[in-house]
Amino acid sequence: MIKKWWQKSVIYQIYPKSFFDSNGDGIGDLQGIIQKISYLKRLGVDVIWLCPVYQSPQEDNGYDISDYESIYPGFGTMDDMKKLIRICDREGIRIVMDLVVNHTSDEHKWFQEAKKSRENPYRDFYIWRKGKNGQLPNDLESNFGGSAWEYSEETDEYYLHFYSKKQPDLNWENEKLRQEIYRMMNRWLDLGIAGFRMDVIDLIGKLPDEKIKENGPRLHEYLQEMNANTFGRRDAMTVGECWGATPEIARLYTAPERKELSMIFQFEQIQLDKKKGGQRWDLKELDLRDLKAVFSKWQYELEECGWNSLFWSNHDLPRIVSRWGNDREYRELSAKMLATLLHGMKGTPYIYQGEELGMTNAPFTSIEDFPDIETQNIYKERLRAGFSEEETMCAIRKKARDNARTPMQWNAEKNAGFTTGTPWYQVNPNYTEINAEDAMSREDSVFYYYQKLIRLRREHEIMAYGIYDLLLPEDEDLYIYTRTLENEKWLILCNFHEKERVITSMRMGRVILSNYADTPQLEELCLLRPYEAVIYQISGKKENIKIPVICRLEGKSVRIE
Ligand code: NOJ
Repeated sequence: MIKKWWQKSVIYQIYPKSFFDSNGDGIGDLQGIIQKISYLKRLGVDVIWLCPVYQSPQEDNGYDISDYESIYPGFGTMDDMKKLIRICDREGIRIVMDLVVNHTSDEHKWFQEAKKSRENPYRDFYIWRKGKNGQLPNDLESNFGGSAWEYSEETDEYYLHFYSKKQPDLNWENEKLRQEIYRMMNRWLDLGIAGFRMDVIDLIGKLPDEKIKENGPRLHEYLQEMNANTFGRRDAMTVGECWGATPEIARLYTAPERKELSMIFQFEQIQLDKKKGGQRWDLKELDLRDLKAVFSKWQYELEECGWNSLFWSNHDLPRIVSRWGNDREYRELSAKMLATLLHGMKGTPYIYQGEELGMTNAPFTSIEDFPDIETQNIYKERLRAGFSEEETMCAIRKKARDNARTPMQWNAEKNAGFTTGTPWYQVNPNYTEINAEDAMSREDSVFYYYQKLIRLRREHEIMAYGIYDLLLPEDEDLYIYTRTLENEKWLILCNFHEKERVITSMRMGRVILSNYADTPQLEELCLLRPYEAVIYQISGKKENIKIPVICRLEGKSVRIE
């Protein structure tokens, strides 16, 4: 296998609107990011994934782009962007931009032209259909709720939009459009960025008449063409957002000889707390055994071919410590346990801003406090479908993506130090306790724990390339796995819950990292405390390392051999 820089990197995702406001207008900006580069350096991340900063009416916080080659004035100017690239380059941090090419804003000049007449040269950049007997072309639904078709009076046809009606879908079958996109990508690469995170890229091969949304027949052909025309000629990294991926599909994207993408985001693990067949608002408790099964399937299936991305959170998901940890008495311990579990696996880890502080979901209660377009639509839709207000709000509080978008908590001062003005979105009131300044002043903070995990990946090849093996799949509380590389073996033990568990062990292990200050070496008898997480280096003679570790349940205690 040819080793790549992005296989040993840790990526930090910035949602610019909520990161840091440098000019007091209440929204984060590029200068704000520049001012916080030293913070990211201290954390130790290698790459920034920058959510969209392009010109946009901000219907969907920048995922509705009206000009790919200028910057949204609220975020700054192209000069600010160039400065950010320059400074990051000097500091050894790479930048990956968000590439949103499944759709544009309806305010993009292509769409403004396209909607004028059926003969317009840009018409075919989008997807237009006639109505059927005075009705919609078909019953395709938008991912934000309602129909995916919007009527356009000027030409008496409907256009397709898988997101809001202000986000018309592009027609990838049009070769001229594809060439325009490749030219735009190259101009960004020329400016010095290191690659792209590709928004809902599995939708670009859609066939709306056949109601095929994801994984359309020409999808991989387009990606190979894109690769050959743009980043394939450079040492770039790419990650595709692919909600509909299975491991087989993931290999199509990421097998190096196919020349498509470096890795993808798949979302199977993140959907385990919804009812089967339901929406993410149909809540269900997470069963740890399901999580182990899904993570392990992906680890095993991409072992030989392809590459995993590892993430718990992003700007579309609630805060992980509130979701699957314990954001009350065990907030810091559980945040560190979740970090260990994820970063210990094989793949490229992503950290979403604030995750390194153990930031939590917002405690807001009323729908007015959840401004996101998706949340607002879902609220109405669920009430219409007969769900009670209480049920609906309970799901929104748990799962709404607004939870990830409250401003970054920098210090205990007004507005969490995010802005001197009025923040575009309320800060989470727990900022007086949970904030970067406090975290950086305490050696045992979640921040420094992430710093250690990042350093481990940099210093130990086993973190990037060790083979993963799951142990004790049937246990409901413990997530245990090993990583093995040549003569080295690490054992990762995570107590996912509050219950204490006894371990008896035939192996000896040295603590590499633990979320408790006094975790002993692995010896004959150990106790795993609430949310305790430990990485052990299994010691012994070389031949011992080669023998697989065995784990069994003996009554309630776990025996490691
Ligand atoms: C996925 C993005 O992550 C999300 O924030 C956005 O709303 C949709 N794609 C549409 O671009």
